[in-house]
Amino acid sequence: MSEASKLTILVIGSGGREHALVQKCLASPMAERVIAAPGNGGMASEVDCFDLAVENIEGMVALAQAQGVGLVVVGPEVPLSLGLVDALQAVGIPAYGPKKEGAQLESSKAFCKDFFARHHIPTAAYANFTEVAPALEYLESHPAPIVIKASGLAAGKGVIMAETQDKAIAAVKDMLEGGAFGDSGAEIVIEETLYGEEASIHAIVSGDSFVCLPPSQDHKRAGEGDTGLNTGGMGAYTPTSRVTAEMQAAIEEAVIKPTIAGFKADGIEFNGTLYAGLMLTDHGVKVLEYNVRFGDPETQVLLPMVSDDLVPVLLASAKGEPLPEKLNFHDGAAIVIVLAAGGYPGSYPKGEIITFPKEIANRAAIVHAGTKRDEAGTITTNGGRVLSVSSQAPSLKEAAELAYSVCDQVNFESKYLRRDIGHRELNRK
Ligand SMILES: Nc1ncnc2c1ncn2[C@@H]1O[C@H](COP(=O)(O)OP(=O)(O)O)[C@@H](O)[C@H]1O
Ligand SMILES: [Mg+2]
Repeated sequence: MSEASKLTILVIGSGGREHALVQKCLASPMAERVIAAPGNGGMASEVDCFDLAVENIEGMVALAQAQGVGLVVVGPEVPLSLGLVDALQAVGIPAYGPKKEGAQLESSKAFCKDFFARHHIPTAAYANFTEVAPALEYLESHPAPIVIKASGLAAGKGVIMAETQDKAIAAVKDMLEGGAFGDSGAEIVIEETLYGEEASIHAIVSGDSFVCLPPSQDHKRAGEGDTGLNTGGMGAYTPTSRVTAEMQAAIEEAVIKPTIAGFKADGIEFNGTLYAGLMLTDHGVKVLEYNVRFGDPETQVLLPMVSDDLVPVLLASAKGEPLPEKLNFHDGAAIVIVLAAGGYPGSYPKGEIITFPKEIANRAAIVHAGTKRDEAGTITTNGGRVLSVSSQAPSLKEAAELAYSVCDQVNFESKYLRRDIGHRELNRK
């Protein structure tokens, strides 16, 4: 690798996903330097972090210019939906992620559902509404159980599974009249309830070309046995035997390829991550939603499984250039376990000192999310999802054993984790 082709890479965000991206970029021979904004306590131990809010588009562009950045990797959805990639491209800085127009696939569920309908991509039957009266009329002909969704970004909290008609009516009124979710609830999607197991497919897209990462599954509920409140995610694993090679090929044909063709037909230039949330129903695979960035915590299992250098792939996507035909992956399985602060997703303490093992196995990694590092290097808790521990092994069972052994060596007072991550896959006959 010539010095001239080495890059300064800026990773934007502050979660476990971004820490995993930083680690993957640091491992690349193409990386001259990796920096992050705003970063977290773990990233601050490894790279220079710049304290800028992810919504600060002008600030991020100025930072990238001042630091001579040759590739920006955008972690979260909010800056994508605010047009960060458009702003970086306007000053000639390649940025991984879709521009604002493409980011609507995630930032507007109504837009996404209409996109699915227009391009014949399998999804739940639905209708979009901005007014209460027609929405209530629709509920009369499509009674509960039914799903009501705030169309805009709601940090994973805008979906109401209404088991009863009363709950459905209340959700419609809360969102469209009551200002629940603010502007994000000014438009709603009402859709049919689907039944089945969920799985995720992540594709890296550049114009007409795409490469898929292995299928994964996550655990959103706070409690063991998938009970309790919804969270940002308590753990994930890859691969999943529920998505066979045949099913993966079918998903690429029925979902990913028509999506890319749809972008072309609609005149949308889309580069970046397409992360499909799927329901594996008895009547085939249906897409619940698209996200336009990597999942958190899925990134923490997916990136370490990629045996290729990911930086040239992200850079090609950022420039809209063709991607390699396929990515290469390690054999075996990977798991990630989230260590949360007690009380999460409700209120939880901050500022607890975290202690770490001196050394961990080399197929395990500790990734930071809600942590802070002071000048003396002490790491304290600073968020709900504090850290995550990921590992790879020949089997999911061995990966889980390794990850949990590391989890037991990381301590802070209110530490909370689920002990059953991967249970569905581990208990399959
Ligand atoms: N039509 C549906 N039928 C059954 N469950 C659904 C449906 N839509 C969403 N869900 C459940 O709600 C979760 C969140 O919905 P999703 O559309 O992924 O929105 P977001 O991730 O933005 O909150 C899904 O992971 C799934 O568990
Ligand atoms: Mg989702």
